[in-house]
Amino acid sequence: IRSTLNLSWSGAAKAALDGPRRAESNKGNFGHVLLVGGARGKSGAPAMASLAALRAGAGLVTTAVAESILPLVAAITPELMTEALPEAADGGFDLERIDFDALLDRITVLAIGPGLGQSPSAEKLVLELLERTTIPVVLDADALNIMAKHIDKLDGRGRTMVLTPHPGEMGRLAGIPTQEVQARREPLAREFAAKHHVTLVLKGWRTLVAQPDGQLAINTSGNPGMAKGGSGDILTGMVAALLAQHPKQAAEAVSAAVYLHGLAADFAVREQDERTLLATDTVAHLWRAYR
Ligand code: APR
Ligand code: MG
Repeated sequence: IRSTLNLSWSGAAKAALDGPRRAESNKGNFGHVLLVGGARGKSGAPAMASLAALRAGAGLVTTAVAESILPLVAAITPELMTEALPEAADGGFDLERIDFDALLDRITVLAIGPGLGQSPSAEKLVLELLERTTIPVVLDADALNIMAKHIDKLDGRGRTMVLTPHPGEMGRLAGIPTQEVQARREPLAREFAAKHHVTLVLKGWRTLVAQPDGQLAINTSGNPGMAKGGSGDILTGMVAALLAQHPKQAAEAVSAAVYLHGLAADFAVREQDERTLLATDTVAHLWRAYR
């Protein structure tokens, strides 16, 4: 396929990995990720995504989750900053009480979706966030399921917008069954990315990264140990963190995140069985992938 790349050490990943940090670096050089997710009862997904964003090198990570689960998310890692999203009596978010200007102040990358749920208030929250800022945004999980219901509003023109669907989420976005997604992954990814002007990461074995300009990359790293809940949340945090560190090389940053995610898991399974691998074990081996 014309202009298809295989991600490898010498490929797109390398472009986003520019060696050791300058000695005089400070956290301001590496961006500030805001991860929005975590409805009541869904603390694991945003916690894992945030942990991965920190480990992948973002200068600062703030996680905004429902106030009732905030202590659980904060307890995962003390390096994390948190913002409480006020809750309504029905268990959804109370949008009236969210100070969006304060929430988005000095944020350089937005990641939305892990554990967000699909309540009507979550829907409004996603649409409102997309309208209020044009900083790079990563949409995953329930943010994708929500945008599938508002597909006419999915438009990445003039900004960096990255979508990370698994085949089921891709099917909902494209309005087709999952089997059809899997039967024509490459043309579908290309068409969708071009049509909506987004970077589309179609996950699964041999994850595809389709750029709005028609470029397509096929990932070569990863293993079936990653077929376990949480792996996707880790990728979301990594994509956001690489965008935060390489805002001018957004396309390469996304490919690098996909490749490093799989590579870290490949290192992790050398030390244990594919069946026992946890998504957080991949995070623990991220340093090997970077090296
Ligand atoms: N080879 C390589 N990579 C794989 C493999 C494999 N065999 N299996 C899975 N992966 C990778 C995918 O490419 C992707 O990066 O693991 C990640 C899985 O991501 P998701 O499918 O998004 O899984 P996750 O979000 O962690 O957990 C399940 O998905 O269906 C929803 O609601 C459900 O919240 C649940 C979530
Ligand atoms: Mg997922």
